Amino acid sequence: MNDGDGTLGAQGRGRQFGPLGTALVIIPTYNEAENIKAIVGRVRKAVPDAHVLVADDNSPDGTGKLADELAAEDDQVQVLHRTGKEGLGAAYLAGFRWGIEHDYGVLIEMDADGSHQPEELPRLLTALKGADLVLGSRWVPGGRVVNWPRSREFISRGGSLYSRLALDLPLRDITGGYRAFRSETLEGLGLADVASQGYCFQVDLARRAVKAGYHVVEVPITFVERELGDSKMSRDILVEALWRVTAWGARERVGKLIGRAKPDTPPPAPGS
Ligand code: GDD
Ligand code: MN
Repeated sequence: MNDGDGTLGAQGRGRQFGPLGTALVIIPTYNEAENIKAIVGRVRKAVPDAHVLVADDNSPDGTGKLADELAAEDDQVQVLHRTGKEGLGAAYLAGFRWGIEHDYGVLIEMDADGSHQPEELPRLLTALKGADLVLGSRWVPGGRVVNWPRSREFISRGGSLYSRLALDLPLRDITGGYRAFRSETLEGLGLADVASQGYCFQVDLARRAVKAGYHVVEVPITFVERELGDSKMSRDILVEALWRVTAWGARERVGKLIGRAKPDTPPPAPGS
């Protein structure tokens, strides 16, 4: 776990981490026609060895078709067409499954709107050499947000603080969506029973990784608010996050109280 210096933790110290393997950058999209070409181009330039998977929920604005055009001219770009809008969580789960089936060693989450700068990806990948999961973090020293309204920053910081306290997680940015997983880490998280649809999907995965004993490292990022298109954040997404985090926290506390705390099924002890 992150013990403050962002690099070493109890689980990580002395552990041998295997080589990384090919990375797949998964970009979920819903109405990102104005952004998709630029973001895929930036990823291909910043990490030329990585492949890209666009997971589009049949965007009415034709994002899926634009992604197909990119895929037609570049072997390292693929598109997963989904039938309709089912939320960020479902799109990522489908993308992870696809990536694992196709033997990628690293699976990366990245927004389509430019908020997660592809140019920072090499830093995340370097950190992943000594970790099971790397979180791009706005709320560790060196991390920041650009052009976010105060209200949005308040919600995000509050969401991370609430999750940190309710779930007892030693992490600063628990809701962020710029992450690099080793494939084995994802396979160990028991994704089959993830029900989170909206942005609380991110909290769910961070929580599962920590509880399973994986070595999670936060790396500072600069999050830049989108210039084009609209955020899909909604009241429903916030409400889902609030009730799920509260329910997970309550379940854990009750479990501890009655002395049979069973978080989620632990994977085989990492690295042992
Ligand atoms: N396929 C699919 N389906 N993609 C979606 C859906 C969906 O239902 N909802 C959102 N997305 C895509 C968007 O198109 C974008 O690429 C990415 O998910 C993030 O959506 P935004 O709407 O831009 O998110 P945000 O900027 O409000 O929220 C950011 O902060 C959250 C809280 O910290 C993101 O970084 C989130 O990942 C993060 O949880
Ligand atoms: Mn965004």
